[in-house]
Amino acid sequence: MKRSDNDPERLVSATRGEEDSSFELKLRPRRLAEFIGQTKAKEQLAIALEAAKSRGEALDHVLLFGPPGLGKTTLATIIANELDVGFQQTSGPALQIQGDLTAILTNLRERQVLFLDEVHRLQPVLEEKLYTALEDYKLDIIIGQGPAARTHVMEIRPFTFVAATTRPGLLSSPLRSRFGILLRLEFYSEDELRYVVERSAEVLQVPIDADGASEIALRSRGTPRIANRLLRRVRDYAQVRGTGTIDCVTAQAALKMLEVDAHGFDELDRRLLLTIIEKYDGGPVGLNTLAATLAEEEDALEEVYEPFLIQIGFLDRTPRGRVATRLAYEHFNLPMPRKANLLF
Ligand SMILES: Nc1ncnc2c1ncn2[C@@H]1O[C@H](COP(=O)(O)OP(=O)(O)OP(=O)(O)O)[C@@H](O)[C@H]1O
Ligand SMILES: [Mg+2]
Repeated sequence: MKRSDNDPERLVSATRGEEDSSFELKLRPRRLAEFIGQTKAKEQLAIALEAAKSRGEALDHVLLFGPPGLGKTTLATIIANELDVGFQQTSGPALQIQGDLTAILTNLRERQVLFLDEVHRLQPVLEEKLYTALEDYKLDIIIGQGPAARTHVMEIRPFTFVAATTRPGLLSSPLRSRFGILLRLEFYSEDELRYVVERSAEVLQVPIDADGASEIALRSRGTPRIANRLLRRVRDYAQVRGTGTIDCVTAQAALKMLEVDAHGFDELDRRLLLTIIEKYDGGPVGLNTLAATLAEEEDALEEVYEPFLIQIGFLDRTPRGRVATRLAYEHFNLPMPRKANLLF
């Protein structure tokens, strides 16, 4: 079943919906100066960009990692814009055969950016092929078959490989070691998200005041993609039920109608925490058991849901499993069992 756009769960999920793509494109910052937050990553990148430009060389290969919707793809396009070079995009799952990779690599233009999304899903054979390309800008090509097969070394033009992943832990160490610049994206602060909302409102020409923007920022799970999505829905509400301007009262009413709670939790966040609390006495419970109980994929829990719950201190990952914290009990107005009290 396709979820409707204002389904609460879809609203707060950080993963992409197809109908978001044109909207995201419009709101995507194009230059580093427009990219809000991520001060550490931005500073590191700005210096590397400046240095590469002044030397007239290709920028070192970049690995962008962090939870969905925090700006990895955006930063990859910004890198190409700032370097004023071409940008080509593909992804781990899209690359299936060696010939495709060879064709892409041999057609690269000097110093351009090759962006590979979901790099953790690249096939191992293709990954190995990449190694020499990344290190020496050379590619081993096998011509012919059987005893007559010969290896031919092909030169490729110096380029910048920008890879993105939500699962850096799954990358092999030989691949990881080939990136000169590692940028970890973090969840955004409320202030930063307020800027994101205000900037997007300006682009979309939606009147909004500071309190209205704060209200949306508060419930965006530290994620610009969610902030933009909530803004879009609140805008609709303001147009139809309000004066068109998003102020605090309108934003609150809209978010209430959309069933987005104070933390921007969706149904699975709530179910995940309540399962740990009610079925497993607050934990610890192993990820696989939890995934099975919730009938969800382990990967989705680990990649999309847990990072934010951990960040806001509702969930703990311990060697023995997942544990619901005091804050989680308080959120649901549930008393903490004595055992858990001892733990925290
Ligand atoms: N720092 C930022 N400032 C302003 N807007 C941002 C910022 N980061 C992300 N966005 C907005 O959030 C949207 C999602 O960002 P993006 O697609 O780059 O995330 P991602 O990390 O690539 O996600 P995924 O892991 O799902 O591929 C973008 O369209 C952009 O409008
Ligand atoms: Mg992306």
